[in-house]
Amino acid sequence: MMLKKLLVFPLTLAILITPALVQAKGSISAGKEKTANCANCHGENGNSVVATFPKLAGQHEGYLYRQLKDFKDGERNAPMMAALAMALDDQSMQDISAYYASQTISANLPPVIFSDDDDDDDEEATAEKNAEEVKELLLLGANLYRNGNLKSKVSACIACHGPKAEGNKPSSFPSIKSQHSDYIIKALTDFKKGNRSNLPDNMMHLIAKKMTEKEIKAVAFYISMMK
Ligand code: HEC
Ligand code: HEC
Repeated sequence: MMLKKLLVFPLTLAILITPALVQAKGSISAGKEKTANCANCHGENGNSVVATFPKLAGQHEGYLYRQLKDFKDGERNAPMMAALAMALDDQSMQDISAYYASQTISANLPPVIFSDDDDDDDEEATAEKNAEEVKELLLLGANLYRNGNLKSKVSACIACHGPKAEGNKPSSFPSIKSQHSDYIIKALTDFKKGNRSNLPDNMMHLIAKKMTEKEIKAVAFYISMMK
């Protein structure tokens, strides 16, 4: 009798502990070692310097992990990432995701518009006009981020991505603050055109479909400046 009682306790404990073991998180230090290849494009610490390569620093672990799985399974179409993800086992994906999530995203320089205009006489006037346009786009982007577009029924980004574009960890809504505007433009355009179709039940397709090219550029500029 006595022995039976003693045995029951550890068994119950084991059952309580098991879920935690199943959801074992990645190891930051192991992840760091596994990102040597990734740094070529995503930069040291996940802060890429090339604007078409997304920054990964500070991104939510759950979001990173799912993207890697989707690249591997071909659910998210990205030729550059597919072969790389194919080579990663599940534990590596968890470790890498834990590592990048533990890093801090870097800030961007203010967006600029370059014109193809070679007219030397008007260089100053052109620069002024471009700066004016950036200002206008940032205002439009801020408004769209916070309020959406009632007329065309674009949802406000703030509802899911948060007041500081930090995303939502429990829901794995990605953080988008300080991301490169070029990458944001590409991501939104991919959603709009249906080129990015993993997680089809997320609302990004419906949202991006209703956005104009100008709105996409504006909100991308604005988000790239959010910290
Ligand atoms: C040759 C350049 C290159 C290398 C090397 C590379 N990536 Fe990428 N990665 C990209 C590009 C480009 C994208 C954006 C794909 C798109 O536009 O959908 C991307 C996207 C990602 C994303 C999704 C980011 C997001 O915000 O949705 C993750 C996660 C990622 N890479 C992880 C890795 C990891 C981990 C490695 C190393 C094992 C790696 N990458 C190596 C180019 C690269
Ligand atoms: C209903 C919630 C919701 C709203 C509203 C929303 N998003 Fe998203 N967004 C998501 C989710 C979920 C994802 C991740 C999709 C995936 O995993 O493939 C995402 C992904 C993104 C990405 C890709 C991030 C990356 O690293 O690749 C960008 C950029 C983005 N959203 C911008 C916006 C903008 C701009 C708006 C407002 C116009 C907006 N979102 C409104 C839920 C939302």
